[in-house]
Amino acid sequence: MLEIPKRKILFVCLGNICRSPLAEGILRRKVAENKLNFEVDSCGTAAYHIGAKPDSRMIQTAKNRGTDISFLIARQFSKSDFDYFDSIFVMDKANYKNIIALAVNESQKEKVKLILNEINPNNNDEVPDPYYGGQNGFDHVYDLLDLATDKILGL
Ligand code: 4NP
Repeated sequence: MLEIPKRKILFVCLGNICRSPLAEGILRRKVAENKLNFEVDSCGTAAYHIGAKPDSRMIQTAKNRGTDISFLIARQFSKSDFDYFDSIFVMDKANYKNIIALAVNESQKEKVKLILNEINPNNNDEVPDPYYGGQNGFDHVYDLLDLATDKILGL
């Protein structure tokens, strides 16, 4: 029998406590529900929240929609992620700039994509940072990442 190789996906935001852990949690749930062969992780470009759980507001927003992210722990992006992962989906243009700046060749750069281009190719839309806003912002991020993760998985 032909084995389909596992596709390895990394999600990146600034702090790894709001947007990228949510993307990771939603993708993990859909991979399990659909018995797909994906590996998934997330990280931040910044070091501020290394070792922290996701923001409690994001944990609750995800829980309300059937996604558990309470077990995730923040880490910072490492250059070795370029080699390990097949695709690196970033949330906004600042993340894109910060990650591209660490790439040492074209093949590493080609792995980095703005996640919302999976929904509207070439639009370069950003997933807004919900950290300083209200509950609407968290719900909006969930809606965007729910759709984007469907596109990534071809659902
Ligand atoms: P995230 O949100 O990048 O989606 O995890 C943020 C979390 C923390 C901060 C900024 C954005 N912060 O400035 O601490």
